[in-house]
Amino acid sequence: MRVGIVGLGYVGLPLAVAFAAAGAEVVAVDVDGRRTEAIAAGRSHVEDVSDDALAAVLPRLASTTDYAQLAGVDAVLICVPTPLSPNREPDLGPLLDCARELGGVLAAGQLVVLESTTYPGTTREQVAPLLERGGLRAGVDFHLAFSPERVDPGRTDFTLANTPKVVGGLTEACGDRAEALYRMVCDEVVRVGTPESAELTKLLENIFRAVNIALVNELALLTDRMGIDIWEVIEAASTKPYGFMRFEPGPGMGGHCLPVDPFYLAWRAREFDMPLEFIELAGKLNQQMPYHCVAKLQRILNERGLAVRGARIALLGVAYKPNVGDVRESPAVKIIELLRELGADVVYHDSHVAELEGLQLRSLALEEALAGADLALIVTAHAGIDYDAIAAGGAAVFDLRGVTGAAAGVTRL
Ligand SMILES: NC(=O)c1ccc[n+]([C@@H]2O[C@H](COP(=O)([O-])OP(=O)(O)OC[C@H]3O[C@@H](n4cnc5c(N)ncnc54)[C@H](O)[C@@H]3O)[C@@H](O)[C@H]2O)c1
Repeated sequence: MRVGIVGLGYVGLPLAVAFAAAGAEVVAVDVDGRRTEAIAAGRSHVEDVSDDALAAVLPRLASTTDYAQLAGVDAVLICVPTPLSPNREPDLGPLLDCARELGGVLAAGQLVVLESTTYPGTTREQVAPLLERGGLRAGVDFHLAFSPERVDPGRTDFTLANTPKVVGGLTEACGDRAEALYRMVCDEVVRVGTPESAELTKLLENIFRAVNIALVNELALLTDRMGIDIWEVIEAASTKPYGFMRFEPGPGMGGHCLPVDPFYLAWRAREFDMPLEFIELAGKLNQQMPYHCVAKLQRILNERGLAVRGARIALLGVAYKPNVGDVRESPAVKIIELLRELGADVVYHDSHVAELEGLQLRSLALEEALAGADLALIVTAHAGIDYDAIAAGGAAVFDLRGVTGAAAGVTRL
């Protein structure tokens, strides 16, 4: 089996390594030559793939910027980014570039699977026509399917192997072909009838999270005013053995998925005279959270007779979620910008993020970050830090993640 993977990021590289580990010959394509060179040299830029794991499969993994290398593979999996444009509309640029390039090298009998998250209709309406430009017909001369990536970076209990893989083929035969391919690396494949169902499945999963996070965030805004401890309420509600699922408030949503994907559907839905209010409302509430956090931080300093201007604020954790180094859309970045606008002296500690390039900040050692800080702000609670010890240290602590107990001097979101 020869498998091509296009886009070697958080999704594509683990997939390439998994197929190579399962015995496939992998051709891994990326437009970023530095990335393909690093991979060829055995250096992984993705935390879920260790250099050792990459080195072990290098004899079966060829990385290149040249799409022509995909000519002889049995299947190509597309894992390129699907971001939003600056005015928050789907930006299919990378995906359409990729489909155009693939259309030039596609051979009869190949299977193409889109893994990038996108709105229902993309595979059939956008990708298929570009692949067909060479004269081959989707579902007839080559197979085409959509299968959403469900990887949760940093997670070790659910991996590619034991997370069921949803597959929707353009035809039954397309689905069969994709299912057989994924059985090489996944224990369970879940078939749906069309690519559109598979595309919407992924969006439903992410919208479900975005909306529920927004719900607890809105309640956190209310409990702040009412003087109720939201964390105690969530803890108590979580004891219900059925009908409740725990979501936690926080400084806002980050990463490539939750702040982005729901808006792909909201955009598409407008074409059907259907404004999706849950999605827009969730987005609005979640985007408000960094502002709320900074306003509450101002109140905490105020109670201590301090102004934000000139205060030294030490952020603990700037990645968008625990135990990863990804800062895409991280609320920490917005919080730093807001604090700086108010004149704060901001430093940070994050063992996963050495540098915040755009903000000209470098991670300090934990003790160095906390030394002389007027307030420690726990934005992302990575493992390996004793938060209770920090809380007991005497400095003001503002905990946005509910990881500290009710120590004196600690305020929780
Ligand atoms: N990161 C996640 O946790 C996650 C989870 C599930 C789904 N997804 C989805 O998977 C897709 C990829 O996400 P990611 O996080 O891996 O992105 P990423 O930015 O980490 O990696 C994308 C890679 O694609 C390359 N690329 C861009 N345009 C290209 C082109 N035309 N041809 C070849 N390579 C190209 C980039 O150089 C980059 O290396 C997105 O649609 C995302 O929504 C991501």
